[in-house]
Amino acid sequence: MRSAMLEAITLTTESAGPAAPALPVVWTSAQWVAYFRHNLAHLLPIPWERIAISPQEYDDVIASLRSWQIGETSDGSHLLRTAQRYAEKANDPAFVDAIKLFIGEEQRHGETLGRFLDSVSVPRKTRDWGELLFRTCRHALLRVESNASVIVMVEVHAMLYYAAVRRATSSPVLRQVCSQLLRDEVPHIRFQCERLAMLHRGRNRVFRAVTLGTHRAFFTTLTLAVWFGHGRTLRAGGLTFRRYWRNAWTQMGKAWRLMDPRTYSWPT
Ligand SMILES: [Fe+2]
Ligand SMILES: [Fe+2]
Repeated sequence: MRSAMLEAITLTTESAGPAAPALPVVWTSAQWVAYFRHNLAHLLPIPWERIAISPQEYDDVIASLRSWQIGETSDGSHLLRTAQRYAEKANDPAFVDAIKLFIGEEQRHGETLGRFLDSVSVPRKTRDWGELLFRTCRHALLRVESNASVIVMVEVHAMLYYAAVRRATSSPVLRQVCSQLLRDEVPHIRFQCERLAMLHRGRNRVFRAVTLGTHRAFFTTLTLAVWFGHGRTLRAGGLTFRRYWRNAWTQMGKAWRLMDPRTYSWPT
């Protein structure tokens, strides 16, 4: 069932006739609500009794995981208020429900990582410069579009990061935690990108180019900051700076395609 839903996330199409390739359609907010509810009911089992992390792995990942844990722990109130204003204007009340479920998934990520830290007797952080910077950025942004753009860029890094942690450890618990987070983050990117595609629709080429330029500047800064803050863990997960940089831009390139309105077919 979940795989069918995920397949639908990537392959939902409308018939466009034999000559033209079919383009995907964006999901409605109600479809996203259904997806998030279904996902919540089908989480991977985590073998909490099998921590088994080696001292070397511990040193490579633990400081960095503490920062990601706090980063995943926002109460989401600012994002929710922004979504409520937008949903009212767009006459899309189900969007608020979808955002609540999205925030719930991020909080579950924070809680799962927190439980892992508790299990290895490492205190959770109460403040972190990266989290503070990210929170300041989001709070300065009052529109769904700006919030979603920042979230997508952070999610792209979350994907690279959790994949690196999974490679860096043989701990069954930590590997399964990362697998769950990665399963969740792929649809998160799609969810935010589809909304951005809706918002970018009807914009002229110049406006879209300015938006892309702003994204590229922000993503460059973020990519360097993540390497600066989490390079040790990323290296332990097999990434050189060169490979990390290339992967980050490749994944962000895919996200930019997903937020391009020309990627989809729209009701006429
Ligand atoms: Fe997350
Ligand atoms: Fe996410």
